[in-house]
Amino acid sequence: MKLSKRIENVHYSAVRSLSPYADRAVKAGKKIYHLNIGAPDVPVPDEYYETFENLERGPLPYAPSAGMPELREATSKYYKNRNINFEPEDIYITMGASEALMFTFQTIADDGDTVLTTNPFYTNYSTIFEQLDIEISAFPTDPDKGFAIPEEDAIENCVLDNTVAILLSNPTNPTGALYSREEIERIVNVAKRHNLYIVADEVYREFIYDDNDYTSFGEIDGIEENLILIDSISKRFGACGARVGSVASKNKEFLDGINKLCNCRLAAPTIEQLAASKLYGIDKDYFETVNKEYQRRRDVIYEELIAIPGVTVKKPKGAFYVMPKLPVDDTEKFAKWILEEFDVDGETVMFAPASGFFKDAEDGKQMVRIAFVLNEDAIRRSMKILRLGLEAYNSL
Ligand SMILES: Cc1ncc(COP(=O)(O)O)c(C=O)c1O
Repeated sequence: MKLSKRIENVHYSAVRSLSPYADRAVKAGKKIYHLNIGAPDVPVPDEYYETFENLERGPLPYAPSAGMPELREATSKYYKNRNINFEPEDIYITMGASEALMFTFQTIADDGDTVLTTNPFYTNYSTIFEQLDIEISAFPTDPDKGFAIPEEDAIENCVLDNTVAILLSNPTNPTGALYSREEIERIVNVAKRHNLYIVADEVYREFIYDDNDYTSFGEIDGIEENLILIDSISKRFGACGARVGSVASKNKEFLDGINKLCNCRLAAPTIEQLAASKLYGIDKDYFETVNKEYQRRRDVIYEELIAIPGVTVKKPKGAFYVMPKLPVDDTEKFAKWILEEFDVDGETVMFAPASGFFKDAEDGKQMVRIAFVLNEDAIRRSMKILRLGLEAYNSL
């Protein structure tokens, strides 16, 4: 039977494509340190689970399509505390940032339109674009400069006649780059000059290291019509499994489009939304504790990586990713080999080859994306396995 052209165009994400190799390694009795997926391992605050404990039993109705009022209210308060002026009615609750992104591009782009993003970019942006027949244009970010945003003309050179939006994550998956206010203003200037939407994916907003300042696109004046802010509780509260995110904007026409899509899929989960609304009320200490933990992990992984002969890397400033260059020709081959052919006392590592994060796979062939979502001991152990694996691979 026939499958759609649309689905034939969709690739498995770079993060998941090694899964069969990992399954075989596990069957062979190996333990794998998963550095490949950015799912935080810190516990979700108790406030979340209390909602489930205190539930009255009975029918479980659909939530309103736009989201539970409690959660829209709590999200608006959270934004306002951060100088971001969104009212509850500017915010639509979605099933994770993933659905927010999907709805956003369904609303603003036609087949064949182009979206401009950073190179490299979060791999699922391209799987969304494949489903919607959207082309990617990407401006370069230099690994030797910590994947910083380039000068305005380098961004502008990549704006095409059919470009509808600039999309970027800050801090960034997959590189751990954190953009300064000045870098953000470059994006804003280009977007305003060309009348583009800015789709700001800020799901890692709370993961900022070394006391760096964070500027949200939501704090910038004069882009109310352009800005679409994507968010999620997945990373912020270690709650990837809750599937709760949001899309916010001041652009009423855009929100009307989002509202139609929210209505088509009826609702996001009712209880998870109620539980998520409690998370936004938790003490600021939570973020400080989590941040400290991730900063320590970031320090450990950086220290371990720079000690490996032939590895080059800049210290990430945010999120929980780092993208080092390894001394191999093709990190995808190396990633498969280390899963299938190598172990240290029955243990091996899994990371994401970086080619799937680049517009042109060749550009990422020598890099990998590592998520530092394991504890310190596990990070040290996995970096030892990586070092020994590289030595063994390069002497084959
Ligand atoms: C930059 C970025 N945006 C969006 C998502 C999707 O998040 P969610 O779990 O909220 O769908 C992720 C998940 O890894 C991400 O890294």
